Amino acid sequence: GAPIKVDISALQEAQQLTVAWRGKPHYIVRRSKAMLATLPEMDSTVLDPKSSNEGQQPKYAQNEYRSIKPEVLVLEAVCTHLGCAPEFVPEIKPQPFYEDWKGGYFCPCHKSKYDLAGRVFKSQPAPANLPVPPYHFIDDNTLEIG
Ligand code: FES
Repeated sequence: GAPIKVDISALQEAQQLTVAWRGKPHYIVRRSKAMLATLPEMDSTVLDPKSSNEGQQPKYAQNEYRSIKPEVLVLEAVCTHLGCAPEFVPEIKPQPFYEDWKGGYFCPCHKSKYDLAGRVFKSQPAPANLPVPPYHFIDDNTLEIG
């Protein structure tokens, strides 16, 4: 599929935008400072904190934020277990069904949980982090996926 341009100027902190690229939904999230601050705390509980076991991932995804700009997260909306669309849970407060969790993605199909960088927690049905697609910024408010 051809690359798509996405205007993110209206995207507020802690909000998510869903766009389609190559027939798959993709999520774009503007993370707040508070959301970003949760990520280092999750390093010891996620399976692959620096996405180092994912050779096919772009270089800019191989860090704690998994993004080019820390505040802007771009993910393929496809659970790495069996492909359902994970739900965005922006709350940074602990969640009732997993007290150490501070938000991220929850897959309704078999309950896999990911953090606010799409990093899967240990002992989940999903075996890997949510994929980061190829993308780049055209300017501060425009990114191109593809
Ligand atoms: Fe997401 Fe199974 S498809 S947990």
